[in-house]
Amino acid sequence: MASKKELQVSAIENGTVIDHIPADKLFDVINVLCIDKIQNNAMTFGTNLKSNQQGKKAIVKIWDKFLEDGEVNKLALVAPEAKINIIKDYEVVEKKLVQVPDNVDGIVKCMNPKCVTNYEYVPTKFTVVNKSPIVLRCRYCEKMTDQQNFVII
Ligand code: CTP
Ligand code: ZN
Repeated sequence: MASKKELQVSAIENGTVIDHIPADKLFDVINVLCIDKIQNNAMTFGTNLKSNQQGKKAIVKIWDKFLEDGEVNKLALVAPEAKINIIKDYEVVEKKLVQVPDNVDGIVKCMNPKCVTNYEYVPTKFTVVNKSPIVLRCRYCEKMTDQQNFVII
C-alpha cells in the first residue's frame, strides 16, 4: 500500500474500495451500483487520480458497506478492469475481480430503437452471448447490443 503521505483519498476503516476504475467511468459506476440510493454510509469519490497502471483512475470508497457478488458483477458492464477491495480494521482482507454475469437486467439500453423497452416503460432484459467483448441479446426483440454501444440507463 502507498504510504499514508501519498494516499490521494483517505484510508477507510471498514467497507469497500472500488479501485482502478477508468477515470471517465466514475459516474457510470455510481449509476450501475445505485450508489446515490445508499443512505447514511460515509463515501468518498475521486477521479483523475494518478495511477501506476493506467495513467488516470477513479476510486469509490464506501464505509461499512460490503457489496454482494451480484452488485460487483454489474461493474463488469462499465468498468471490467475495476478491483474491489474489502477493508476490515484498515487492512485489505480480500480483493475481488469483477466477472461478467450471464444475464443483465436493466442497466443498459437496447440498441434497437423499435424495441418495446425504448418506447414503453418496460425494463430491459438481456442474455449475455459473449463475455469479451460483451455482447448482449435482448430478451424482447432478440437484437444484439455490443459493448461499444452501451448506453447506461
Ligand atoms: N485502501 C483504503 N483504506 C484502507 C486500505 C486500503 O482506502 N484502510 C485503499 C487503497 O488506497 C487502495 C486500495 O484500497 O486504493 C487497495 O489497497 P492496497 O491493496 O493496499 O493497494 P495496492 O497494493 O496498490 O493494490 P492494487 O495492487 O490492487 O493496486
Ligand atoms: Zn430490444
